[in-house]
Amino acid sequence: MPRIYIETYGCQMNVSDSELMLGVLAQEGYVRTDDPAIADVMLVNTCAVRDHAEQRVLGRMGELKRHKRPGDVLGVVGCMAQRLGPTLLERVPQVDLVIGPDGYRGLPELIARARGGERAAEVDFKAWEHYEDVPPLRADPFSAFVTVQRGCDYRCTFCIVPMTRGPERSRKLADVVGEVTSLATAGTTEVTLLGQTVNSYHDGTHDFADLLQAVGVVPGIRRVRFTSPYPTDFTPRVLAAMAATPTVCEHVHLPVQSGSSRVLKRMLRRYDRGRFLEVVAALRQALPGMALTTDIIVGFPGETEDEFQETLSLVADVGFDDAFTFKYSVREGTPAVRLKDHVTEEIQAERLGRLIALVRSGAKRKNVGLVGTTHEVLVEGRAKRGSLLQARTRTNKIALVEGPDEWIGTYRRVRFTGTTGSTFAAGPVS
Ligand code: 5AD
Repeated sequence: MPRIYIETYGCQMNVSDSELMLGVLAQEGYVRTDDPAIADVMLVNTCAVRDHAEQRVLGRMGELKRHKRPGDVLGVVGCMAQRLGPTLLERVPQVDLVIGPDGYRGLPELIARARGGERAAEVDFKAWEHYEDVPPLRADPFSAFVTVQRGCDYRCTFCIVPMTRGPERSRKLADVVGEVTSLATAGTTEVTLLGQTVNSYHDGTHDFADLLQAVGVVPGIRRVRFTSPYPTDFTPRVLAAMAATPTVCEHVHLPVQSGSSRVLKRMLRRYDRGRFLEVVAALRQALPGMALTTDIIVGFPGETEDEFQETLSLVADVGFDDAFTFKYSVREGTPAVRLKDHVTEEIQAERLGRLIALVRSGAKRKNVGLVGTTHEVLVEGRAKRGSLLQARTRTNKIALVEGPDEWIGTYRRVRFTGTTGSTFAAGPVS
């Protein structure tokens, strides 16, 4: 049987897309391997959101090509593949195929063509493509990513995603519920609904509120998560559905990008600082005790020290549980490239340092306050280091707990006994 090795960079949708590609290739008789040295096909599923992500992939290609034996196929797929298209074939001679996020059905054909000596790129957008008939090969039996929306119609000026994932489209509610039902029948208890602006989901008849309620009551499903929502798409209907659906978890990842209304305007975000704070308040009212995490960009073109200070003060005001923080990265083809007063790398690095320190101290204060509290956790597996089990609360906090392998995939009640500031030590309670 031919062996497929796939390495995934970037967001959860890429993880989900990799499971889809494994599904496409499983239908062709491929089996998965974790060892590139014995693979017949090696794929790298890429991210294009920052230059750094692309540089890492290029570096990795240099390593993977050493495992290429005669007849083996090396492919670049995902957002960087879409962005660079056929030029990737010129730039990296060892690459045999390039496929964007809408072209994964074409994998078997392009692999066959590569074997015949023809290097090819498939980067057409297919606004209808949901891979509805392809069963993804998921790694995890109890927790599943379910893509409900592909592409993006928002036009944030920093962001390459509309150019790499094409126009926004939502799957039919009945198709999503069908998939979740069969997952639950097979033992999955947690689902994470995925979309670039997931709460703008609309299938022509049903909105995200309908979807949450429908998925939330599928028998066997105990936890519903979603990522990433767009702040202003939390309509009163969606908030009400979250409040009324007990399986919806008390955690929202809510990208703010900046705390300055002027910067948000230049980013073409559809809210200002005040509106964002209103959304936070509405979410906390809908789901009391909810954890909030965010994404923040520092050093966006034209960002002054005062504007950056507004980001710091917003972080302090909201009290995020955690944040992913990034230096603005120029993405060719996005509108922000043409904005004036690009911030130097030095200032970006300095601001990022201050922001990270603030995020960490806020998270630590919050987490120290949670020591002694009890939580239901889903045990996910053995922690990467040490012998403890890694488990997750509904609020997305990670707890390390001692226990047998039999606990993996089950729900337990634990008490937090300590914290590193970001993760928790925990012990079982009866
Ligand atoms: N530079 C830096 N960060 C970016 N992101 C998106 N585009 C860029 C860019 N050009 C960040 C945003 C987004 C996250 C996935 O990546 O914060 O929410």
